Amino acid sequence: MHEEITHPLVQHKLALIRDQDTGHKKFRELATEITMFVCYEALKEVRMKNVNVQTPVAEAQCKKIAQDLVVIPILRAGVGMLEGILDLAPTARVGFLGMFRDENTKEPVAYYKKLPRESKEALCIIVDPMLATGGSTVAAIDEVKAAGAKDIVVVCIVTCPEGLQAVESVHPDVKVYTASIDKCLDDRKYIVPGLGDAGDRLFGTK
Ligand code: PRP
Ligand code: URA
Repeated sequence: MHEEITHPLVQHKLALIRDQDTGHKKFRELATEITMFVCYEALKEVRMKNVNVQTPVAEAQCKKIAQDLVVIPILRAGVGMLEGILDLAPTARVGFLGMFRDENTKEPVAYYKKLPRESKEALCIIVDPMLATGGSTVAAIDEVKAAGAKDIVVVCIVTCPEGLQAVESVHPDVKVYTASIDKCLDDRKYIVPGLGDAGDRLFGTK
């Protein structure tokens, strides 16, 4: 399952963040803004409860959020999406999964894990700007499921058909929300046209 958020504001900001001349300050701001739009859609998945509220005029049948939220950035680039989602959901707990792609095999290498105990009952939102081969996202979902979580969504900024296929074949119960489904992967397993190396562009490294 996946959903591409094609709102004009998202498309406009994607044009800016893709530009190779966009420096790390602006890249970070755009990552935050795009994250807010895509996470707004992903938060449709949260469980709600009915409540009655007394307005000055009458009783209203309303709904409130009935589920904890746990945001899980995949280190390092996922940290670039944390501010955007916490602006929307300031009471969310935060877990971290450290993973990098081995330069030769392109397989994810896990190096850190700290998930809140509440993950089991919460809506867990895994965030990483790039879902390329899908290896890192599949491994992250494996970890979050191993912690007992049942309600999991993934939010990324850019993905491609290969990555979506990889995630959907292993975890068909987890929906991916993205700002763009790009064309393909290149021979270095970078998304085309993509954003380049999201971690380096966010943090000004190379
Ligand atoms: C990038 C990106 C994802 C992963 C995507 O991280 O942020 O985590 O690659 O690739 P995949 O879908 O093929 O697994 P990277 O390994 O560059 O680490 P970094 O975030 O520390 O820069
Ligand atoms: N990681 C990135 O940062 N960019 C890609 O295109 C693929 C993996």
